[in-house]
Amino acid sequence: MTMQLTGIAGSTALVTGAVGGIGSAVASCLAAAGAAVVAADIDGAGAAALAETLRGQGASALGLRLDVTDHAEVERAVDTVERTVGPIGILVNAAGVLGRVAALTEYDDAEWQRVFAVNAHGPFNCMRAVGRRMAERRAGRIVTIGSNSAAIVKTGQGLYGASKAAAHYLTNCLGLELAGQGVRCVVVAPGTTETAMSRANWHVSGRREALLHGEPDRYRVGIPRGRFADPREIASVVAFLASDQAAHLTVTTVTVDGGSSLRP
Ligand SMILES: NC(=O)c1ccc[n+]([C@@H]2O[C@H](COP(=O)([O-])OP(=O)(O)OC[C@H]3O[C@@H](n4cnc5c(N)ncnc54)[C@H](O)[C@@H]3O)[C@@H](O)[C@H]2O)c1
Repeated sequence: MTMQLTGIAGSTALVTGAVGGIGSAVASCLAAAGAAVVAADIDGAGAAALAETLRGQGASALGLRLDVTDHAEVERAVDTVERTVGPIGILVNAAGVLGRVAALTEYDDAEWQRVFAVNAHGPFNCMRAVGRRMAERRAGRIVTIGSNSAAIVKTGQGLYGASKAAAHYLTNCLGLELAGQGVRCVVVAPGTTETAMSRANWHVSGRREALLHGEPDRYRVGIPRGRFADPREIASVVAFLASDQAAHLTVTTVTVDGGSSLRP
């Protein structure tokens, strides 16, 4: 039996962090399903190039330079998209930064502010601007790319995991508040996925193998599936959650990590 995703074609989808590994896979997947994709990223040239590629494949796409940490810029961008492209039916919060992998006692205030600005304040800015409008229209789907680090404690990821836990809570809280108004909000929590973000640390000797196989001396488990996720394996779950086939899914977190969270 083949199942076609419905409810995406004809929608306007705003994807933040769209130039990144997961964001670009999500943008491509939603475009292939027929959404008009607004590819937003702080890397404006990259966003424009991605939109051009998607248009070349016959999709409707617009590239937008957007810094999700800037509340006023987000409000302006959402207003412009709604006036020029269409009412946003799907928001995917994929912009994120890993920050430095370090012991908690070694971080300085600037690192805290940077990681929280992008990973927690960013989704808040976007969900506040888009959620208000979706609630008025009594329709909308929001998917935040969180992380399995929000639910399992990992050494060296104090700031990242805490900022992602905030994003998980914000998204699910909005989902609860808007559940009666036709707006669904869900978190997708990936484990290590092959993108620029995860590869950034693989130059450290043994790091890649440690992520795969675990580090018992650092209380870290590996990935039971024995490999990292392909960004398209995250994107297909996001597309499903944005579709009508997931119509009863809201206020929840879907973990896509090859089993590494060991959650029942
Ligand atoms: N790769 C992984 O292993 C992994 C695992 C779990 C969760 N995640 C999450 O998935 C999401 C996507 O990560 P990725 O692996 O594709 O990383 P990536 O580094 O490839 O992409 C992140 C994108 O976010 C953009 N960005 C950063 N700051 C921004 C800002 N202020 N405003 C707008 N855009 C901004 C970057 O320009 C980049 O294009 C992130 O939220 C990340 O935390 C990734």
